[in-house]
Amino acid sequence: MRLFTPEAMREADRKAVERGYPSLLLMEWAGMKAARVYLELFGKAPALVLAGKGNNGGDGLVLARHLLLEGVGVRVYAAGGQTGDALLALQALLAHGVEVGPLEEASFREGEVVVDALFGTGLKGPLTDFYAELVERVNRAGLPVLALDLPSGLPFSPHVRATATVAFAALKTPHLLQREACGKLYLAEIGLPKPLLEREDLPEVASPEALRPLLPKRPLTAHKGSVGRVGVLGGYKGEGLRYAGAPLLAALGAYRMGAGLVHLVAPEGTPLEPLEAVFHPVPSPTLPPLKAEALAVGMGGGPWGRAWALKALEARLPTVLDADALHPEVAEAYRKAGVPAVLTPHAGEAGRLLGASPEEVAKDPLTAARALAERTGLAVVLKGNPTVVAEGERLSVNPTGNPALATGGTGDVLSGAIAALLAAGLRPFDAARLGVYLHGLAGDLLAEEKGVGLLAREVAEALPRARRLLQE
Ligand code: APR
Repeated sequence: MRLFTPEAMREADRKAVERGYPSLLLMEWAGMKAARVYLELFGKAPALVLAGKGNNGGDGLVLARHLLLEGVGVRVYAAGGQTGDALLALQALLAHGVEVGPLEEASFREGEVVVDALFGTGLKGPLTDFYAELVERVNRAGLPVLALDLPSGLPFSPHVRATATVAFAALKTPHLLQREACGKLYLAEIGLPKPLLEREDLPEVASPEALRPLLPKRPLTAHKGSVGRVGVLGGYKGEGLRYAGAPLLAALGAYRMGAGLVHLVAPEGTPLEPLEAVFHPVPSPTLPPLKAEALAVGMGGGPWGRAWALKALEARLPTVLDADALHPEVAEAYRKAGVPAVLTPHAGEAGRLLGASPEEVAKDPLTAARALAERTGLAVVLKGNPTVVAEGERLSVNPTGNPALATGGTGDVLSGAIAALLAAGLRPFDAARLGVYLHGLAGDLLAEEKGVGLLAREVAEALPRARRLLQE
């Protein structure tokens, strides 16, 4: 599944029509599928449909007709000046005897659900004047809102804040970059010819279908030395072992992602956790002889982080470089040595590597992740909402995860988990996108059960469940 820009989506629509596909069918399917989502979410609650004059409005008019046929009360207000398919959709609705009022007269009533069909991918710039006000009124009304394709106004402000959004044909960038405005996200297939959606030049949205085949197999004859051994190097001795928990959580993440054996290389005095790990207490950043297929380095490393990453390089093993190992000099050394590595920065760390502010990185994570991958020649996991994985020309945007994961130590668990996948033989880009997806899914499973207040170790513990869910 690819992540479309609004322009790329419009191009696909255009190409479908050029191939002779009747665009009215796309509109009919869109409206009908959105009506289904409406019924699933809101049952027979009456609808207030706000329709713009373009095709997004047309989708709304089709939805109104389908809701009517299902016995749902509809009040419809539309912009004037429909042409083409939208005009046909309007005529079809009028033929059913529905009154369609002018948008200027739209009013909000308690108990109604607003259907936002004002603007979709055709929006050219920020909404102003009447439409800016209308969008603000929708938000102030405090009613549930179902947005068709995109909450109106996105990617600019002001925009509608929807309870749920039905994306047509494919996800578009604002669905993942401005997820907050979209509410619960649905993807509806509307009959667009499949080849038009296969755009290898666009970022991928990580999907179960694409990731399932990457899951490492566990043969019957597996033993702990055959399914991937991980070395975790982290922590530092100063400040009373302040960050000792970080490498322990990475070790836990590696085991929970299926590592056969985890070596924990950490400062003397670090408590041995998990008990299952092989402990190598060290007085300074050193690389003891290890039998491992991959490393995770830097978690809680503080001032030791950089030295440790450079020592770890001697092993020439696929390595996850996290936290204090994230340094331009380190990245350069790995690139030069041709050792496969995955960098796992958050926006702040990525900003430091790129010479940009965390805000700039967070604003356009796709561009930032691509730039960092290009600059370092390594695989990059740019953590955030959404997390973006980049390597060379390839970009993968992760759809799982939620704000409950914003808590100390979850990043360490992720590093260990990715290292376990590297140790199992996955290539950096695959280990990164699969690890990120399962880590986010584990967080989603937990958030559903417990809400916020998660512990990083619980996220590690939920990894096997996430893995099994993906396998099914
Ligand atoms: N302010 C006011 N009107 C605007 C602005 C703006 N900033 N930008 C664009 N418009 C107007 C255009 O002039 C046009 O009339 O919005 C209308 C187009 O809006 P859309 O309905 O989003 O565009 P369109 O290309 O007709 O339809 C795309 O149709 O395929 C469906 O729902 C799907 O999102 C998709 C939509």
